[in-house]
Amino acid sequence: MEKARRQMTERLKAVDMIIELRDCRIPEASTNPMLNMMAQGKPRLIVLAKTDMADPVQTEKWVKELRRDNQSCLAVDLMRDNSAGKKIIREALELMKPKREKQKARGINPRAVRAMACGIPNVGKSTMINRIAGKNTVKAADKPGVTKSLTWIHADPQLELLDTPGVLWPKFDDEKTGSLLAALGSINDDILDRKMIAMDAIHIIQDLYPGKLEEIYEAPDVNPNGMLKGIAAKRNLVSDKGEPDTKRAAELFLNELRKGRLGRLTLEHVQNKDSEDHDE
Ligand code: G4P
Repeated sequence: MEKARRQMTERLKAVDMIIELRDCRIPEASTNPMLNMMAQGKPRLIVLAKTDMADPVQTEKWVKELRRDNQSCLAVDLMRDNSAGKKIIREALELMKPKREKQKARGINPRAVRAMACGIPNVGKSTMINRIAGKNTVKAADKPGVTKSLTWIHADPQLELLDTPGVLWPKFDDEKTGSLLAALGSINDDILDRKMIAMDAIHIIQDLYPGKLEEIYEAPDVNPNGMLKGIAAKRNLVSDKGEPDTKRAAELFLNELRKGRLGRLTLEHVQNKDSEDHDE
């Protein structure tokens, strides 16, 4: 944790702005709390990735919600949109325009913008960097005045990118955030109870998209455990005792959710932000 903090401080000092990647299906849970604490004041471009799996109505709302002073937001499908890299570069330069215009007005020829790319594991950061830098990913030389160990990627004549590998995901205290990250496989769930994760996710989806799961799995409108039984029945998952195998149903459900096979779903809605804690 302390190492991660040191790495982050070192990198932040070296850049003009931050490009923060988040999962479009969980735009708040997928932010990095440590970044929020440390990055105050730096212009930030939030890139919401995996739009292809998110609810388009919510995506539009989130983009508006997350755009504010000194902060921009863009939603992209990094897998299919060939122009995603160009869009990100354009948006980043647009965000830095006021500062660059000021420099020009003072007779300074602005150097390329230096941006730090960051995001929680598995959010699509490597895919984004490949999209931005294209095939000609060239690692730039060390910059004068900044730590030698940092490697820069020439993304564009006007934009240089600094990757943040190895920055750990910090501990989070909020149970709901944990459930959302676990539901989409953003945290290692080997040590977690997958049935619990699945039931939490079912609860969230039933709340935000009433009737959706019932329709997909042709299951009655019941509590999450009942839904798992319905899924087990629909997919013929039977335990040794001849009962619906809810454990396997949970695995199957999580797999389908994570791969986007349940349709385009956003698990954090803009208007629900202030009333997230639902009664059990
Ligand atoms: P990371 O560096 O942040 O850890 O993430 P990475 O780029 O490795 O991406 C993690 C997974 O997310 C990859 O899938 C990648 O293909 C997928 N991904 C990234 N952006 C998007 C997007 O906009 N839409 C969709 N649908 N998927 C996206 P994987 O199954 O782990 O690997 P692979 O099978 O693609 O190699």
